[in-house]
This record gives sequence, structure tokens and C-alpha cells, in this order.
Amino acid sequence: MKKLAFIMLAALMLGACQNTAQNNASATDEAGTADSAARTTLVAYFSASEAHITAQVAKTLAEATDADLFEIVPEKIYTAEDLDWRNEQSRSTIEMKDSTARPAVATKVENMAQYNTIYVGFPIWWYTAPRIINTFLEQYDLTGKTIIPFATSGGSDMGKSGEDLQKASAPNANWILPGKVLNGNPPVDSLKAWIQTLPINK
Ligand SMILES: Cc1cc2nc3c(=O)[nH]c(=O)nc-3n(C[C@H](O)[C@H](O)[C@H](O)COP(=O)(O)O)c2cc1C
Repeated sequence: MKKLAFIMLAALMLGACQNTAQNNASATDEAGTADSAARTTLVAYFSASEAHITAQVAKTLAEATDADLFEIVPEKIYTAEDLDWRNEQSRSTIEMKDSTARPAVATKVENMAQYNTIYVGFPIWWYTAPRIINTFLEQYDLTGKTIIPFATSGGSDMGKSGEDLQKASAPNANWILPGKVLNGNPPVDSLKAWIQTLPINK
């Protein structure tokens, strides 16, 4: 528990720094608008905290890989209380204790057939992906599509998040694992360098 408390503190501090970065970057990020009909790569992400850390990196990643950008929005938005990992009765704790929990999603990718590569981003919750990512994946037939998970965290790595998602919710997709934790609001160039290392487009 002490370890997680340390991680959470680090996450809060990281969030404060990245809030500033978010304000600076927002004017230049317009991925996924004009010629979206031509794009075959999608960056789909869920971001829950007030700092929107995963949202920020998802936008930069969409720019780096010339992808459309899609936000996985919960039907019921997570409040700060819902996200209180110290409270055994909080919504996030209850969901994460139940591997079959599937929080409802308010948004849907209408043209999923168009995409053959999907980056799926999320904050690490209790060392894995939030259950809403399972809900998202289970909405579609992802057979044969390439899925690359990425995350932000307070210090944890990807753990088995990708394997957990593959097994439970999209076993027929072609997963590139383990994916990557992209903390520290990485710039476009470093994300491009990471993408180059992936066994796609080869
Ligand atoms: C319920 C909950 C559980 C979390 N569990 C972990 C964890 O196990 N390891 C970790 O490093 N960070 C953990 N975090 C911190 C988040 O992963 C981190 O703050 C993330 O960057 C938040 O992204 P967001 O702003 O997109 O929601 C947790 C946060 C919450 C709310």
C-alpha cells in the first residue's frame, strides 16, 4: 500500500506539470478532422483525471502517426470521488475488483471498418487497464486489426494490461505487446521514434 501511495503522489505531481503542457499544446492539435476518410489508423483513448494526462499524449500520438483521434467517453463521467483509490467503496475500486465490470460508453466509432491499426490509450488503474477499455473493445469486431496499447501512470509499467485486454475482450485482433507507458508528455519526435520500432508497416 505504501508503494501505491508513493506512485499516486508521483501521479499527482506529474498531473500538475502536464496541465501546463496541455494548455500550451491545445491550439496546435487538430488531428482527425479534415481528411479523416483517408486515414486507416485510429488513436482511441480514455482519460479520467482532471489533468487529462492520457488525453494529452493521445493527441500528440495522433499527430505523430497521422491518425484519427477518438475519445472513449463514459456514459457516467468519473468524479474525483469515483477515482479515489484509497476508498474501498469508490466506483473505480469496485470496478477494478470485478474483472467482469463493463462501465457503459457514451461514444462509438461509427466507421471502425476503415481502420486497420488502432492505438488504445488509458491510465493504468491498479496495475492494469480500466474496465471501460474492455467495454470499448467489445463494441466492435476487431478481427485481424492491429492493436497497440499505450498508457500513462504514476510510475507503474504496462504490466499485463495488454494481455488482460486481449484475452478478455479482443482475442482475434493482432496485438503488439506489451505496448508502452508514455509518461512525461513525450514530444512528437520521440513518439515517431517509438512507432518506428513497432512491427507494423514492415
Ligand atoms: C483508481 C486509480 C488507480 C490508479 N492505479 C495506479 C497504479 O496502479 N499504478 C500507477 O502507476 N498509477 C496509478 N494511478 C495513477 C494514474 O495511472 C495516472 O495518474 C494517470 O496518468 C492518469 O491519467 P488520466 O489523467 O488520463 O486519467 C491510478 C489512478 C487512479 C485514479
